[in-house]
Amino acid sequence: MSIESSIKTALNTADGGTIGISPAAEDLDPIDFFGVWYDAAEEFGIFMPEAVALATTTLDGAPSARMVLLKSVDERGFVFFTNYGSRKASELEKNPQAALCFHWAELERQVRVTGAVERISPEESYAYFSSRGRGSRIGAWASKQSEPLPDRATLEDRVREAQQRFAEDDVPLPPFWGGYRIRPGTIEFWQGKADRLHDRLVFTRSGDAWTTERLYP
Ligand SMILES: Cc1cc2nc3c(=O)[nH]c(=O)nc-3n(C[C@H](O)[C@H](O)[C@H](O)COP(=O)(O)O)c2cc1C
Repeated sequence: MSIESSIKTALNTADGGTIGISPAAEDLDPIDFFGVWYDAAEEFGIFMPEAVALATTTLDGAPSARMVLLKSVDERGFVFFTNYGSRKASELEKNPQAALCFHWAELERQVRVTGAVERISPEESYAYFSSRGRGSRIGAWASKQSEPLPDRATLEDRVREAQQRFAEDDVPLPPFWGGYRIRPGTIEFWQGKADRLHDRLVFTRSGDAWTTERLYP
């Protein structure tokens, strides 16, 4: 069976119309499965399907969460970009573990990811940074993300300074800015179903392979 047809089988409805997660999904690679759900969210027209909650913790276990944008995903993991001096980065540098939670409400779908986090290479960060508009690149230089800001004028001054500094030149990648990759240890797919009898399927990494398990809703 081709990967496309196994994915179709995995998504097929077996219960009179409510789309569930069929047993065939258990044989899929979870990154491929994520790609199918992500594409479905895009095709459905969900606003910013790439928006995802990112949870980190301090070393003594206090959690914090905020939204980030997923910029790429492949078998190595899920990548987002940020300021390496931000609160999230400082927590990730001390405790390089994170959780992601996507919610595509109109499709009644949630995907949860947990895993170890690492910085991506400066080359990879540069490749993405240089694809951003000039305004965003200047903004990255101007923002000391998560530090106290005395007033809006201070930020605007810093934007002007960065504009002058790079007036002639291309805006280079700030040394304090780049991507993180979450290497998934678990990926859980949740599909809403009638009477709160939702489907939950968890993939857990086991060496180079994945094991699967169903959970009560
Ligand atoms: C939809 C949405 C997407 C966001 N995407 C990012 C992002 O990709 N990277 C980022 O650093 N902040 C992003 N932010 C801002 C963060 O939520 C957060 O305010 C900021 O990164 C500071 O978080 P921290 O102080 O915990 O580090 C986004 C906010 C929203 C609402």
